[in-house]
Amino acid sequence: MLDKFNREINYARISITDACNLRCLYCMPNGYIAKHYNFLTVDEIKNIVTALSRLGVKRIRVTGGEPLIRKDIIEIIKTINQVEGIDDIGITTNGILLGEKIQDLIKYGLKRVNISLDTLKEDRFKKLTGGDLKKVLDGLNKSIELGLVVKVNMIPIKGINDEEIIDFINITKHLNIDVRFIELMPIGEATKFKGVTKDDILKYLDGANIVKIENNGGGPSEVYRLNGHVGRVGFITTMSHSFCSRCNRVRITSDGKLKTCLHNPDEYDLRPYIDDVDKLTEVLRAGIYNKYERHTLLEDKISKSSRDMVRTGG
Ligand code: GTP
Ligand code: 5AD
Ligand code: SF4
Repeated sequence: MLDKFNREINYARISITDACNLRCLYCMPNGYIAKHYNFLTVDEIKNIVTALSRLGVKRIRVTGGEPLIRKDIIEIIKTINQVEGIDDIGITTNGILLGEKIQDLIKYGLKRVNISLDTLKEDRFKKLTGGDLKKVLDGLNKSIELGLVVKVNMIPIKGINDEEIIDFINITKHLNIDVRFIELMPIGEATKFKGVTKDDILKYLDGANIVKIENNGGGPSEVYRLNGHVGRVGFITTMSHSFCSRCNRVRITSDGKLKTCLHNPDEYDLRPYIDDVDKLTEVLRAGIYNKYERHTLLEDKISKSSRDMVRTGG
């Protein structure tokens, strides 16, 4: 459907948990503190996706926290895949549990995986996240071997991992994946750090050597190919170049709220209507129509969202 600014909304991100098995420096360095245990059930997810599909949503991305820690993750993917009108399911994960679950995820409908990975050094990974890099790389390699569309999300942070930018770009020489550099957004813990902008990163690259890829399926990233590389390099430029005018998405939080914009405060509680797909459809329709026009991070430098990233689903 169209929102009131005439943007086609055909993509929804559904967060299925706020909890996570890692402790990333800029996200939840001290671990997960539960605000609720009332995560959406499989049946609730089915009803919400059915209603979203009636409104023209075709693509679903499952997010967290870390979505793969849900014991019923396979059931969730299978259920979303069975909803009429949904033709693309992706997941955004830290990759720790990916290697062990990937075959079943694919069997039940997963098409795309975005893996958050901020360093290629084992000791640094341990320090930044508390986890084991080998597991993530195993999940990444298996995802590529098994033919999923794979994107790696890297958040460069000044003085922490920014000297690895070139190493990440070089991954795309031989691997047919997208490596995306994300500009750190000032939410929660992340306000303590300084990110790196797209223009800073372009300085590392020879301008003559890179070509912009147009028509990238409506996502937030700007994508380029380097001469001779099989993969692509992308940028998610929330802090330097706004892409709100082409925004195609809404979010559902793990406690059942519609959130129409990552950096604005509105939330619509879906739980009172969760068993009634007709009513759900109408509440979603009204909320989506009134989606915010844009975030104000460029001028305010601070998010108006009342949630941190892990409780929004990224
Ligand atoms: P696909 O396009 O489906 O591959 O995924 P994506 O890039 O939208 O999703 P992913 O979960 O990999 O998110 C990567 C980064 O983009 C995260 O930091 C998200 O917070 C950010 N992001 C995703 N959607 C939006 C959006 O609408 N607005 C802003 N500002 N950031 C977004
Ligand atoms: N700014 C930008 N991206 C963030 N993510 C988590 N916190 C932030 C932040 N403050 C990213 C994760 C993951 C995606 C869902 O969101 O690294 O790749
Ligand atoms: Fe869309 Fe809001 Fe993200 Fe802008 S900040 S691209 S309007 S979700």
